[in-house]
Amino acid sequence: MTQRGRFITLEGVDGAGKSTHIAWLVETLRARGLEVVSTREPGGTPLGEKLRELVLNEPMGLDTETLLMFAARTEHLRQVIAPALARGAWVVCDRYTDATYAYQGGGRELGAARIAVLEQWMQPPLAPDRTWLFDVPLEVARARMTAARTPDRFEREQQAFFERTRAAYQARAGADAARIHVIDASQSLEQVRAALAADVEAFLREAGVPAASAA
Ligand code: TMP
Repeated sequence: MTQRGRFITLEGVDGAGKSTHIAWLVETLRARGLEVVSTREPGGTPLGEKLRELVLNEPMGLDTETLLMFAARTEHLRQVIAPALARGAWVVCDRYTDATYAYQGGGRELGAARIAVLEQWMQPPLAPDRTWLFDVPLEVARARMTAARTPDRFEREQQAFFERTRAAYQARAGADAARIHVIDASQSLEQVRAALAADVEAFLREAGVPAASAA
């Protein structure tokens, strides 16, 4: 029987620098012979990408925003994530449900209760096997945000919004330390990469993936 793949997510406030490390992670896993599906939220399916466009750019209320995140997620889970895991592929997802708890629950102050109801609604309910949270002080995140393009609805938010979002992420990590591993992303890119690489190795060992052959 095919062994189920592993579900990995990466999280952090805008500007934490996680995107820089995702391509590296995907390459690293592929180099170990794993089939890897690299995807993102909101998005990951044709409909999900359309919903992403709306939710990042159209003015809307908080309930609508939260429901659209989960509408996109449900499609993503059913069409992409669950089938990939079932056939033995590993899934690396740029943000997932922790982001809703952090941004809508914390940043926008919706709280966790209604998000938990929506999370329960999804079938199959599926938690990541490992989440790496890129944690960074707000000044550093702000300085890293790319000024190259027009900021979206989230990137335009004030400092206090990101402080609440970061705090909500940290609280989730504190409550589920076995799954959510915090990476101090205020360090240099090389230091962050080294911290992540060490933890990725430990995760691969736990998953029974053979060690990399010395080239
Ligand atoms: P990205 O810039 O990392 O691709 O994410 C898009 C934005 O969407 C980012 O500012 C975080 C936000 N977001 C939420 O507010 N709630 C969610 O559930 C997800 C997945 C993303």
